[in-house]
Amino acid sequence: MAKEQRTIFIIFGGSGDLAHRKLYPALFKLYVKGYLQDHFAVIGTARRPWSHEYFRQTVMESIGADIGDQEKISSFAQHFYYQAHDVNDANHYVALKKLAAQLSQQYQTGANQIFYMAVAPRFFGTVASHINSEGLLTAQGYNRLVIEKPFGRDLKSATELNSSIAATFQENQIYRIDHYLGKEMVQALPLLRFTNPILEAVWNKNYLSNVQITLAETLGVGERAGYYETAGALRDMIQNHALQILGLVAMEKPQEFSSAAVHQEKSRLFAQLPTYSPEQVAVNFVRGQYGADHKGNQLAYRQADNVADDSPIETFVAGKILIDNPRWQGVPFYVRSGKRLCQKTTRIDLVFKTTANKIFSQAQLQEVATQPVILSIFVEPTQGLSLALNGTNPGMALRPFMHTLDFWQSQEEMSNSQEAYEKLLIDIIHGDQTNFTNWQEQEHTWRFIDQIRQYWDQNVPQFPNYYSNSFGPKASNELLARDGNEWVWSNEFGQ
Ligand SMILES: NC(=O)c1ccc[n+]([C@@H]2O[C@H](COP(=O)([O-])OP(=O)(O)OC[C@H]3O[C@@H](n4cnc5c(N)ncnc54)[C@H](OP(=O)(O)O)[C@@H]3O)[C@@H](O)[C@H]2O)c1
Repeated sequence: MAKEQRTIFIIFGGSGDLAHRKLYPALFKLYVKGYLQDHFAVIGTARRPWSHEYFRQTVMESIGADIGDQEKISSFAQHFYYQAHDVNDANHYVALKKLAAQLSQQYQTGANQIFYMAVAPRFFGTVASHINSEGLLTAQGYNRLVIEKPFGRDLKSATELNSSIAATFQENQIYRIDHYLGKEMVQALPLLRFTNPILEAVWNKNYLSNVQITLAETLGVGERAGYYETAGALRDMIQNHALQILGLVAMEKPQEFSSAAVHQEKSRLFAQLPTYSPEQVAVNFVRGQYGADHKGNQLAYRQADNVADDSPIETFVAGKILIDNPRWQGVPFYVRSGKRLCQKTTRIDLVFKTTANKIFSQAQLQEVATQPVILSIFVEPTQGLSLALNGTNPGMALRPFMHTLDFWQSQEEMSNSQEAYEKLLIDIIHGDQTNFTNWQEQEHTWRFIDQIRQYWDQNVPQFPNYYSNSFGPKASNELLARDGNEWVWSNEFGQ
């Protein structure tokens, strides 16, 4: 396959935050690397009446001076065009179609088109149906649709959204973004699991005690409070990012590493997510909302702008998920995500069983207990692996001591590594759907999330229940303590 790709990007919401902060810098990096050269164009659309020149100016400003020289940035920006457009106005799609056809000729893009929805989710269906009714799809090239999250807010709305886009685009043309699937260490999971026999052999209920997936943020809701009040952590982080990571950790080995085979295994796994009665939701899932910090320097969630004084919206979720299949029976998967926690980290901790050390008496071990072996996979902000193993300290007797084998990406490698959006954009251009979510996965994960949401919506929570800058609510620790387990990422106070 030639490195240079031919395509037109049509970005709905081309004047917005996502486009400027993520998409344009990522496209520029693809330009620098030669994936995009002469045969591409970008049409930005939004309501405000910008000129091409003004739009190009904003694009150039969105690209940091650290990733390219001014001449390169300027030649890149010449490929950008602006079309004032209201997504609800059918006539505007006619103008858009004309511009796309003209640019297709001018840049010889092979009539390939990527429609990118960087607008509010309520517009996704409208845009897709107008693309169809106003005849924007080309017969000669490919037509691909990129959809940002959130993909619905429950199973019903996700199904409606899916039907509205499925009327225009086939599943193999739809790229549902979950940017966690673009992160290096998340993409590395299948490789880690299936090319290292030392891991593959023990990746099951015989050796693992529990698996922990943590997505912790230090930031509060900031300016996103308006959206967050309609979402909450369960919808915002668990339905998509946390469960997608769980899918890659827990799925069976695909027959081959292809989009179809990976999605088949992930869908199978998600179909096995448990069905909970309301009582089981109460036992297996806990929620929290941050208050101020201990010193009163950081405001509580309820004090943020656009948040109700008695808001029941959760900024923290921890849950226990049992997968009832031969590989995982009896192994709890604990997922957790929260805002305003004491550290930003995304990590996966696999905690091994401790039953194999029966041959040593406590006297032989000098009364020091051996610890569970733990494999930790660090996704961000640092990328790496750490394996904590029982060994001994030097000396005459057997005195157990945990040794860790660590691997950390160097700063240099991290700075060369492609950011999630860059990786995902390359995949879209190449037509590779592996690192996107498919409809079946959405359907299963929403069905699972809905049962928790419905129970929570009927019960008023006692919020706030954790301090800013902490590890979240006490109930999160108790969830694991009931099973005799504890969070690997925690401190002894847990508050
Ligand atoms: N920002 C992020 O980091 C982020 C992360 C993950 C997912 N997302 C998702 O990405 C999407 C965009 O988010 P964002 O943060 O970029 O939002 P944003 O900054 O508010 O941008 C929204 C864009 O939509 C345009 N727009 C609004 N109403 C329109 C209409 N009736 N017709 C045509 N264009 C219209 C706006 O421009 P005009 O006002 O000029 O029309 C603007 O360009 C959302 O679905 C969001 O959930 C964003």
